[in-house]
Amino acid sequence: MTPQERAVQEFQRRFGAAPSLIVRAPGRVNLIGEHTDYNDGFVLPMAIDRAIWIALRARDDRRVVAHTLDLDDNTEFALEALKHTDGGWSEYLKGVAWAIQEEGYAIGGWEGVVAGDVPIGAGLASSAALELATARAFAAVSGLPWHPPTMARICQRAENEWVGIRCGIMDQMISAAGEASHALLIDCRSLQRRPVPLPSGVVVAVLDTGSRRSLVDSAYNERRNQCEAAARFFGVPALRDVSLPELEARADELKNQLGEVIYRRARHVVTENARTLDAIAAMERGDLVALGSLLDASHISLRDDFEVSGKELDALASCARWTDGCHGARMIGAGFGGCAVALVRTEAAASFSARVAACYEAATGIPAAITMSRAAPGAAVVTRSGTIRTDDAIRR
Ligand code: GLA
Repeated sequence: MTPQERAVQEFQRRFGAAPSLIVRAPGRVNLIGEHTDYNDGFVLPMAIDRAIWIALRARDDRRVVAHTLDLDDNTEFALEALKHTDGGWSEYLKGVAWAIQEEGYAIGGWEGVVAGDVPIGAGLASSAALELATARAFAAVSGLPWHPPTMARICQRAENEWVGIRCGIMDQMISAAGEASHALLIDCRSLQRRPVPLPSGVVVAVLDTGSRRSLVDSAYNERRNQCEAAARFFGVPALRDVSLPELEARADELKNQLGEVIYRRARHVVTENARTLDAIAAMERGDLVALGSLLDASHISLRDDFEVSGKELDALASCARWTDGCHGARMIGAGFGGCAVALVRTEAAASFSARVAACYEAATGIPAAITMSRAAPGAAVVTRSGTIRTDDAIRR
């Protein structure tokens, strides 16, 4: 059964009727542009065909009553009396309810069942998917216009201010605004977006190390602080405003004042922004070799300069890189565990999966989960048959 079917079936069992609405919001992989979003830089993610679904119906009172099948847990709260409780999954629902109301929207309650197939903590943005699905549910029952960038910002605010993670905008924006068959170049300063068609002849492989990140939140916030310190050194709002020649011209001064580590953090961000723009150019001219080399270089920079990889991610990315048919591979997301991405020639996909899984298991003793992902549309109301409703009233 698909997660959508599981959510519908459980809704019927719990509430004795069919849901009046089903909403869906996807997870993502990021092709390139890692740890650049909170530096006002460029990212190139795509929404994937793994998502969070909510089967629901509106309530007359201003309460939310929800059950999650994946964690087998319930939550119930009133929209006018939101309180932090246990820090679990329901904080994302409450955070979104809080942030939408803080932005001045009046919202109604709903009851529903949540189910998904975005693995939690795997670097595929399961939190953003849950936030956007929740926002889609509130918008649908409350008759709010659905404007993807506005909702992405509201969900980021929920995560920053309610949940307490200082994430950038990438995950929420791609879950809100993804497009089928396209990656999305996002300028994280202006929030302008440009869909970029995926190159033909390759598939996007998602490689799950099976290792889950720990201490990632404190390491993430520390990286942000280091980047902000480097931006202050250069007297600019964000590292987006520093070029590689500018960085190199003041490298010794930066190292003397703030230390060598901060210099390397800045070098990652500055070079990663350049790599992301180069990757767009490579995609547009169909140069898969150049694109793959940029992915490889991104991984090395994240490993050595930004220091957010880990031994499992390094092992999996290098198994992928040395396997026939692979153009390039890199870790994705915040890091330390979770997933990598690889660009693989379509005809080599089946043998690639088997060989990489064997190589990784031999190196680490852990089985890898390897799937080929298609680029999917962003958060939407879906019809019972599973097709996505794209009328303008819904997806403005
Ligand atoms: C997490 C955050 C994003 C982004 C990535 C790293 O996924 O939620 O905002 O910073 O890490 O690129």
